[in-house]
Amino acid sequence: MTVPASDPAGSGRIVFDRVAHSFPGGSGGNATEAVTDFSLDVEQGSFVCLLGPSGCGKSTILNLAAGFERPTRGSVSVGGRPVTGPGPDRGMVFQDANLLPWRNVLENITLGPELAGRPREETLAAARRFITLTGLQGFERHAPYELSGGMRQRAALARAWITEPAILLMDEPFGALDAQTRLSMQELLMSVRQVTGATVLFVTHDVDEALFLADEIVVMTPRPGRIRKKIVLPFTRPLVYEQLILNAAFTELKHDILYTIRRPEYDI
Ligand SMILES: Nc1ncnc2c1ncn2[C@@H]1O[C@H](COP(=O)(O)OP(=O)(O)OP(=O)(O)O)[C@@H](O)[C@H]1O
Ligand SMILES: [Mg+2]
Repeated sequence: MTVPASDPAGSGRIVFDRVAHSFPGGSGGNATEAVTDFSLDVEQGSFVCLLGPSGCGKSTILNLAAGFERPTRGSVSVGGRPVTGPGPDRGMVFQDANLLPWRNVLENITLGPELAGRPREETLAAARRFITLTGLQGFERHAPYELSGGMRQRAALARAWITEPAILLMDEPFGALDAQTRLSMQELLMSVRQVTGATVLFVTHDVDEALFLADEIVVMTPRPGRIRKKIVLPFTRPLVYEQLILNAAFTELKHDILYTIRRPEYDI
């Protein structure tokens, strides 16, 4: 299975060192500086949530780690090596499941190993495992349009997990789901992550979600995004959501984070 948290090679570690990123302006306009002076060490096996106002550069940070973008200044490295492009060591999950409509659930999940030329039997065995873990048994032959939003997102998770990436980059993966489905998906993510040991860098707007999932929360400033605050969470896992929301530390941290994002002038 994927790298255990103690892997000395640290293939699941992501280091952003004084990263800045600008997008060129369209038709001769000014460039947009999305993030600046962003330094963060995401330790192997940890779960880090990025929070911040819309447009502050959260997706840009994920895209830099994924290798879809190259930083304008500074460096991004994964497992000690500079990121030069996308790779199988990093799986990505977006808000939209982005399943291929002409492939069924099983065929969507096996796409990555197929493209990588993995042996068919091995791929099918892995697919069966992740189909079971994500509770999609019985839906293998269904087309994406025959699934609920939560099931589509479970298929997207299984598709990202099957290549056993050391790192999962997740951009508001549960943002489009209803509150209860979102909670089930959060629990699913936590339980499968215990099995795979992957490092997770997770973007969300939902402070409760970040408090439930993360080992560490990173709050960003408005654009150009910098790190405003890093909060290491004090909760002991596994967590039960219904108990967590009665925890005084949860309420206090939620209050603190909301003030930081929405009312930075108070700077508490
Ligand atoms: N491909 C692009 N070309 C030009 N500008 C871009 C591009 N991608 C992002 N930007 C700009 O960079 C800034 C940061 O965008 P980004 O998508 O990273 O923000 P975000 O924090 O993920 O926002 P949201 O919470 O709304 O998803 C925005 O001002 C956006 O307009
Ligand atoms: Mg975004």
